[in-house]
Parts: sequence; structure tokens; C-alpha cells
Amino acid sequence: MRTLIAITLLLLATLAAGQTPRQLNVMPMPSSVQLGTGQLLINQSFSVAISGYLDGTLERGVQRFIAEVSQQTGMRLKPTAAQDSGATLVVHAEHGSEAVEKLGEDESYELAISDSGAKLTAQNPLGILHGLQTLLQLVETGTDGFSVPVITIKDQPRFAWRGLLIDVGRHFIPLDILKRNLDGMAAVKMNVLHLHLSDNEGFRVESKRFPKLHEMGSDGLYYTQSDIRDLVAYARDRGIRVMPEFDIPAHSRSWFVGYPELASTPGIYKIEPGGVDTVMDPTQEGTYKFLDKFIAEMAKLFPDAYFHIGGDEVNGKPWDENPKIQAFIHSHGMKNNQDLQAYFNQRLQKMLTKHHKIMVGWDEVLRPDLPKSIVVQSWRGQESLATAAQQGYSGLLSFGYYLDLMWPAARHYAVDPMSGAASTLTPVEKSRILGGEACMWGEWISPENLDSRVWPRTAAIAERLWSPQEVQEAGSMYSRLNELSWRLEWLGLTHRSHEVPMLHRMAGVDNIAALRTLADVVEPVKDYTRFENVKTVWDFRAPLNRLIDDANPESETGRKFQDLVQKYIQSGYQDRGAEAEIRTSLTRWRDNDAKLHPVLQGSFLLHEIAPLSDELSSLGAAGLAALDYLDKSDVPSESWRVQQLAQTDTAKTPKADLLLVVVEPVRRLVEATARQTAKP
Ligand code: ACM
Repeated sequence: MRTLIAITLLLLATLAAGQTPRQLNVMPMPSSVQLGTGQLLINQSFSVAISGYLDGTLERGVQRFIAEVSQQTGMRLKPTAAQDSGATLVVHAEHGSEAVEKLGEDESYELAISDSGAKLTAQNPLGILHGLQTLLQLVETGTDGFSVPVITIKDQPRFAWRGLLIDVGRHFIPLDILKRNLDGMAAVKMNVLHLHLSDNEGFRVESKRFPKLHEMGSDGLYYTQSDIRDLVAYARDRGIRVMPEFDIPAHSRSWFVGYPELASTPGIYKIEPGGVDTVMDPTQEGTYKFLDKFIAEMAKLFPDAYFHIGGDEVNGKPWDENPKIQAFIHSHGMKNNQDLQAYFNQRLQKMLTKHHKIMVGWDEVLRPDLPKSIVVQSWRGQESLATAAQQGYSGLLSFGYYLDLMWPAARHYAVDPMSGAASTLTPVEKSRILGGEACMWGEWISPENLDSRVWPRTAAIAERLWSPQEVQEAGSMYSRLNELSWRLEWLGLTHRSHEVPMLHRMAGVDNIAALRTLADVVEPVKDYTRFENVKTVWDFRAPLNRLIDDANPESETGRKFQDLVQKYIQSGYQDRGAEAEIRTSLTRWRDNDAKLHPVLQGSFLLHEIAPLSDELSSLGAAGLAALDYLDKSDVPSESWRVQQLAQTDTAKTPKADLLLVVVEPVRRLVEATARQTAKP
């Protein structure tokens, strides 16, 4: 049945026989869609009535919906919900949601649209909020006005936990930017914002109990408790839980600036690049007294039932080097540092239970001595998720969803929490997999470029976690992602609009057309390559103002060019339309260096990309020459081809931490010239 539903969804749904096939621009794809014939017009008389349960969350959700429809259509729709039963849209929730949003609450909804009206029903306001997002995405612009198609949608999430981690430790992200990211999450039905609030470089929450944490452990940039309450309420209004993470015992140098007694290595600590790589001391009672009071304070501030203690990447050296810690290990019959961390986690877990919180930790915390109530977040591989589930633990997948690795959306999209080692689990074991989280680690993010690292790729992960497993086709995903990407900009996200101001600043001149041409075909280096290229030590204070900091993780121009070349080659070099488009791009690239050269010379920030501009020009010329050979069914000399291929090899090497994304398709064109049969 599921497969059947998925196939129906993935079909380019046909309105009626004889009409052009069309695709629903909805993301994430709902679990069940029945497309009818006709449409419901959205015009000045559009009205909304709330007929069932009503509370502030629901009312504000409807008001935002009306504001967004008004923004798109330009119609001044009634700002308050009408109560009459003749309203165009009737919203009906059976009852309220939990006072504090709970994992696994009903989030389902049904949306029935006819040509005369629409009805949105759900058990509670969470489902209504999701249904309103679907309805917004269905609004289409036509020649005579705006409309939504006649359709029936029944929808519910595949996984209960659909999160986005934002690391605000390495670089502080202002509250308003977090809020617009919450708007983006709500648009794609994500329901957990995981805030990584402390790391070596910064402690980002005001603690009234231990004020030296935020005062000395940050550069003065942190969220006040009032900010946090504001953020939690904002998230709550959008059906999103906020889970705090305070990463201990490693990743915690910022704690030691104000409270050096917590460290395993005596000394004076500063917020600085490099610095002593030490961890918390789990052998002193003072550490636990401190943590108990700290958790008591934070447990009140963050209402969510889950509390993340990190637990990743514990470097055992500071423990090895401290004789007191070694003595403790031996006197307690422990064998190694892992045993000591397990002891620390057990004590933390008891403390969290006392403060009515459920412990979450990275996969290093997985040890059979912890109670099964904890949640394990897998980041080092999918195996740890399956192992956790087998052992009776609940788990979240983040391996494969690391946004900082700069992968294309399709690569994240292909990772499924139930695939790999998890695919052979029993149904009971599978039920322990709660979902997953996209992770935006903060080493290379700034308030200026955060959105562009998170969006739109996160929407592909959101779909993986919401939609039926069978929804997998990357082509459909990209076409819907493209549409959604614009909608996200309407909400105030800047993943597209950040580009022009940053390029202008780098160039220092008004005309940046040629710079944009180059910027559109480069991507940041992948995985952790950028760290490998750091000359001395990674410095979180370094300005993030180079082209790599602006370039999108995935080049849309590059992906489309790749598809076009594929189409042309598959047509046996006969597709003239594709060829013409390829020529247009190649010509623009070939001629771009001459225009860009003076701009690059005039800006010291841009000197480093001169080799890329030069290579783009050569690739354009090589591609055009290859097309000429293919057109004439002519075979170039072996030496020409060898030379061109050598050139593409050179162009493959990153420069200025950037990759030219058109290298592969141009190489394919050059290689194709060898397959021509020589003219008789
Ligand atoms: C992690 O990436 N160290 C959780």
C-alpha cells in the first residue's frame, strides 16, 4: 500500500487526461495525496474560520498563515479569523496540545480542498500548523489570480523527532537569525531545534547561578534568560521543541575561564585559538555539586523533557597526565578512561532524572551500564544507531546529515535512518529509532552566511524524516526544493540574498556581474578539507569574508549544467536544444576571465581566486572545441585530447578552498570526442 501511495506521489500528477503533467510543489511530500480536477480560487473574499478547539498557538498560526497568503497574493485578507461557517477555509482541531510539546504527540492532519472551499482538520494545533504550511505551498500564481488545486491530503510524519542542530558555541548567532531559522523549520515541518550552547570557544547562555560562565566564557555574546524564554515561546508557537546541549566533559574549555577548578589540568584559561586541550575533572565531588546546581537552573529555563550533555570526542590525555585522576581510576576498579567517562555519565544521568530530564548524548556515551531511557545520537556512523536500538536504547541519526561537510542535498537525502545496519533490525528495535537531526556545526559560520549553509539543503533532510521511505527520487526533490527555496526567502531567510552584498564587499566595485558568473560555479571544499588547509591553528576569530564563505554549498548552475550535458550525451549528441544551452554557458565562461580580471586585480581579497577564473575560461574553450568536433563528427588528434584532459585534471584541484563544479561535465564532453567514428 505504502509503495502504491508513494508511486502516486512521485508521478508527475496529471490534472486530467490530456493536460500537461504537473508536479505538486510540496515539501516534505505528504504521505497520501489524491489530486482532483479544478481549483479553489484565492481572492479578496477568502476567509478563515476556526470551528473547533481554539487557543493562542492555533490563533497565531492562522494569523501568520493569513499574513503569508496576503504577502503572496497582495490581497488584504481579513487579519482575524472569521467565525462563520461559510468561510473559504475551515480549520478544526479536536483538542489542545500538551502544555509542553511532547515527543510523539499527534502531528497528523487532513486537508480537503474542493472548488468551493477547504477544510483542515487535526487532532490538535500541531497538526493544524503542519496543514497550514502544506496549504501555503499549494498556492499557485496564475494568469487570472491565485488558486490552490482541488486535492485531498492525509498526512503524518514518519519519524517523531525531526531536528536541526545549530552550534552557537563557535560563533554566536543572534536571536533574530535563530527565529527566522525556526520559521524555515516550521515551513518544512521540523520539530526540534537542538542548540549546541557551549564549546571551547564560547558559553552562550546567561547563568544567574554561575555568572562567570557566560561573562568570562564568551566574547560578551550570549543569550540572556529572557532571550531563551522568548525563543522557546517562538518555537512553541511553531510546533518546535528546543533542546539545549551543554557539551561535557570535553568541548568545555569556556567553562574553565571562570571556573578553572572544574578542569582536569590546573591553569589559567582564556577564550583563545588553540589553548590547552583539556576536559572536565570527573573525579572531584565539586564538579558534581557544580553541575547539579547548573542543571537545576537550566532545567527550569528549558522546558523540554530532553537535555543533551554532549559526551563526544573526549581526549583522555589530561586524565592520563593527572596523578590524582589516575589514582581515582585505580581505586574505583576502573580499567581505563572510557570507564571513567561512563562513571561521569551515570552520575549525570541520575542528576538529570532528579531534575525531570531525559539524557541525550553523542554515540560515545553508549555503554550498557546506562539506563535504557537515554537517547543516543549517532554521528560516527549508522552502525552505532543500530547497536543502540538492539541494546534497547532510543536513537537519533545525524551521521550523513552534517551540513558543515558541504555535501549536495541529494547525498543527505539518500541517507535513511532505517537503512544500512538498521535495515535488519526487528520491528521493536526499529521503533526505537526516533528520527534524526541535521547538524550545522559552527566553525565556519557567521550570522551572515548561516542561512546559506542551512538552507535549502535542510529541507531535503526534513523530507527524509517526514515523508514515506519510498519518496526518494532526487529529480523530484530538487525541483520541489527549488520552489521551496524561494518561499524560504519570503520568510526572511537569506540563503540566496546574502550573496550579492558579500560579493560587492569583496570586489569593492559596483559591477559584479563577472564575479557572480564565477561564484555561481564554485563550491566550498568538502568534508574537513578546509581545516587541513589552515596554516597554523584554526582561529574562530578569523573573518569569514572570502569567496568560500559566500559560495553556496551546492551550485545550482553546476547541477543544471551537469544534467544538461548528461541529456546531450544520452541523445547521442542529437539534442540541439541542449547543445545550444551548453554552448551559451561555455561561451559565457570562456569570455568571463577577461571581464573579471580587472576586478580581481583591484581587490586583495580576490587575488586568490584568479587561478579559478583562468581555469573556468580554459574549460569554456575546451568544452566549445569538443562540441565543434562532436557537431562535425570529427575526431580530434590524440594529443589534443590528452592535453585537454590534463587541463581538467589541474582544474580539479581546489584553489582558495574552492572547487570548480563544471570540470566533470566538460571532461565528459572532451572524452566523448574519442568515440566519434572517423569520417570515411
Ligand atoms: C561531533 O560531531 N563531535 C558530535
